[in-house]
Amino acid sequence: MKKIDRETVQKILDTANIVDVVSDFVHLKRRGANYIGLCPFHNERTPSFSVSKAKNICKCFSCGKGGSPVNFIMEHEQLSFNEALRFLAKKYNIEIKEHEMSDKEREEATERESMLAANEFALNHFEHNLNETPDGQAIGLSYFRERGINDVSIKRFRLGYSIDSRDDLLKTATNKGYKEKYLVDTGLCIKNDAGKVYDRFKGRVMYPVFSISGKVVAFGGRTLRKDKDVAKYVNSPESLIYRKSYELYGLYQAKQAIVKKDKCILVEGYMDVISMYQSGIENVVASSGTSLTEGQIRMIHRFTENVTVIYDSDPAGIKASLRGIDMLLAEGLNIKVLLLPDGDDPDSFAQSHTSSELEEYLATHETDFISFKTSILMQGAENDPVQRSRAIADIVRSISVIPNELTRTIYIKECSRSLEIDEKVLTRQVAKYVAERREKDATTQQRQQAAETIEPLLQESTEVHSTQVVDKSNYLSTSSVDKARYFAPYERETLRYVLKYGMLDFCSAVDDEGNTAPMKVIDYIASELINDGMKFTNYDCAITFDAAVGVSQASWAEDLEKYKAQLLIKREKNIAEGEELIRQTALDLADIKVKETQLIEKCDNAYNSELTHYTALYIERALLSDPDDVVRRLATDLVSEKHVLSKVHTKYAQIATEQDQLDELIPKAVFGWKNAIIEWSIKELIAKISTTTDAEQQRELIIRLQEKKNLKKDFDKYLGERVVAPRK
Ligand code: UTP
Ligand code: MN
Repeated sequence: MKKIDRETVQKILDTANIVDVVSDFVHLKRRGANYIGLCPFHNERTPSFSVSKAKNICKCFSCGKGGSPVNFIMEHEQLSFNEALRFLAKKYNIEIKEHEMSDKEREEATERESMLAANEFALNHFEHNLNETPDGQAIGLSYFRERGINDVSIKRFRLGYSIDSRDDLLKTATNKGYKEKYLVDTGLCIKNDAGKVYDRFKGRVMYPVFSISGKVVAFGGRTLRKDKDVAKYVNSPESLIYRKSYELYGLYQAKQAIVKKDKCILVEGYMDVISMYQSGIENVVASSGTSLTEGQIRMIHRFTENVTVIYDSDPAGIKASLRGIDMLLAEGLNIKVLLLPDGDDPDSFAQSHTSSELEEYLATHETDFISFKTSILMQGAENDPVQRSRAIADIVRSISVIPNELTRTIYIKECSRSLEIDEKVLTRQVAKYVAERREKDATTQQRQQAAETIEPLLQESTEVHSTQVVDKSNYLSTSSVDKARYFAPYERETLRYVLKYGMLDFCSAVDDEGNTAPMKVIDYIASELINDGMKFTNYDCAITFDAAVGVSQASWAEDLEKYKAQLLIKREKNIAEGEELIRQTALDLADIKVKETQLIEKCDNAYNSELTHYTALYIERALLSDPDDVVRRLATDLVSEKHVLSKVHTKYAQIATEQDQLDELIPKAVFGWKNAIIEWSIKELIAKISTTTDAEQQRELIIRLQEKKNLKKDFDKYLGERVVAPRK
């Protein structure tokens, strides 16, 4: 195993563009300066996932997830920091420079990485078997040919063949250095009770299942034998890398077509997907024989709101799957249903018709789901009142899960007509179901919220930042949790200034020899903390501040020089171009002089403002992609927090950005925090005084309390004067 070099890491972080990266997974729409889409991390119907091109971060304003490109990939693909870097490098064709891992580095390579590597090996092996071995060609390839699957499809879906032997894969893989453990963990091999290991897939054609980002997470193997006592399909078991309820077969290949067509076609089996795809219908995915799960539906919803479910016309099967479709409705999707002619499934239908016939059939035979359900449930119920009322209740329940009220009303009208039931009765019944569901949702939500406020305080960091000097155990006792919560707003506010403006010059400092030198925001804050012996009480704030200090000291001077050099080249180029233009358009020599002065001034301003921007954001940028989970998470939170003072607009001009007022705001934030510390100690003293019985000790405590109170008066006065008056 190898470790990525620092320069490569930097290059990846510099190149990765958040809009690009997120667009691979979420359908984004432009909204003003930002982009917006449905959050991939939680279930939602109206978009609250916002992507800022300027800040190069994304953030869900509902569930809070998001962050820098690397953080997004980590969360979305459930990858480690290093895996996410490799993922991005691949996307941007960045060559990875790396070195052989030390023993320590090797230990850290994750289980997931090893499992994915084993699957990747198996994928290539099965593919090789199919195309290059006599057995594969004679048995596997001829089977696919017989079923009308062409070479392009075989390649696109990476179909393969497993040799009919008990350890063909096991032997080949272990010979190549893959550990038996990972072959068993992925389910490629099975370990029996006696400890003997053998292949799971034997003599089957292989359908690899790809995650949404194109990683092989599982396989389905179909038998080619006719006898009934062999399982038709053998599938990979669930594992660390395969959660069945979150994968849809074909989604990786279909996602672009789904967005383009703004529709997803849902079928049952592997073969259905492949045959339809081969016939030119590319926006098709399969639930792989089981009923749909919420996770799968959410996946679809990221790409489109329109879903067409194709059924083969087996009435029992249809009835059984109707309920699953309620989940699609509840998700706010528009559901259409398409019934195939008797005896056909999507595979056979696609194989026996031309592409244009298929297209045509799809376009003309879709029906709306509620009407479809009504007609199915009402079949044969006309003369059976009990069955009829049960069917009606079922339909009404389906209508009630639709989130959009207008859509519900339309369906109620339609059902009232087709079922010949008073509209008011239906409306009342729907309203009842809606109310019931709301109540249920509210309780679950409350529970969730309660859990969420406590959780962050207790969360474990999985990776530890190198500059960390913080002992975490200090942060986890109950009393310190209370205290940390009390100080959190102050500490976060101070830290936010460090992140957003840390490297900007803030004030002058005089050293021992009387020389003045500029002091940066982060240095000012650090010196305030040291002078007053203040410490962050929140663990996440403490290590994030440490990380910020680390960044400010690591390679700032070098990075600044590099950036300046780039800017200078740009400035030269702009001046040269401007001068050329002036020469072409100027009236006379005097005019040239004036215009040249203006040009230089403009280019200088651009240079300065870009440099300031880079300086201000230097720490923020680094921490948003820090290897430590805790640091990254907090940095993301702080940077995306909406801030009241950040921009004040008046009718006449845009004035007083936060950055313009730092000399007031930052001391105020630090003093606000100090003030809170005094308040806290006053509270503690009062509590102690009331519980102490020793008179001597009590007197002492009261004196200390008085001192604190005096100190607080001074602070109040200071803070009162420093309040930034709102401008009229
Ligand atoms: P089908 O029996 O319709 O299979 O099951 P199919 O994909 O159309 O295969 P062919 O056409 O007979 O070759 C639909 C899906 O249900 C899952 C598979 O994902 C299959 O694609 N399934 C079915 C299993 O997982 N195990 C089984 O034993 C059967
Ligand atoms: Mn089939």
